[in-house]
Amino acid sequence: MTNAKISNIVVAIDGSDSSRKAADYAVSLAKEKDAKVSAVVVVTIHRSDALRGSAETLHKIVNKQVNIAGGWLNSVKEDADKNNVKFESRVIKTTTSVPEEIIEYAKDKKSDLIVMGTRGRTGFKKMLLGSVASAVVTHAGCPVMVVR
Ligand SMILES: Nc1ncnc2c1ncn2[C@@H]1O[C@H](COP(=O)(O)OP(=O)(O)OP(=O)(O)O)[C@@H](O)[C@H]1O
Ligand SMILES: [Mg+2]
Repeated sequence: MTNAKISNIVVAIDGSDSSRKAADYAVSLAKEKDAKVSAVVVVTIHRSDALRGSAETLHKIVNKQVNIAGGWLNSVKEDADKNNVKFESRVIKTTTSVPEEIIEYAKDKKSDLIVMGTRGRTGFKKMLLGSVASAVVTHAGCPVMVVR
């Protein structure tokens, strides 16, 4: 039988209500399992942003996004702290693939489970499952929970 012990939970945050729900779920599951929560936001650096302005501008745009991401992560941390759940977080900048970064981070954290929302901030409402969630479900090296 597979060892289904859940000690390390990664939760993917994008600031959407859906990912907030995922974070709530991750924290309450971690509390029950005495597991650690590692929360991650991937900030995409768009080439088009670089084309539009100078490098300085791109730097500013990315920094602003990193700051906003920090705010999202702080609110999950507060929830984890309140529940005595071990917590860490990371903001990852990428020029390539958000799902790949989430999967790599989960590997790095020896994650037993990745928790995500069904939808994010950027998708069409009619989509049942966003492309980031779909790609992580398809390619992750560990079980993935999509919270609805
Ligand atoms: N940049 C990101 N960093 C971390 N987690 C993310 C990121 N983007 C999405 N997620 C996670 O994936 C879940 C589903 O979002 P997803 O991006 O797949 O859907 P969407 O935004 O509605 O559609 P799409 O991005 O395909 O247009 C989110 O609730 C969140 O858990
Ligand atoms: Mg999205």
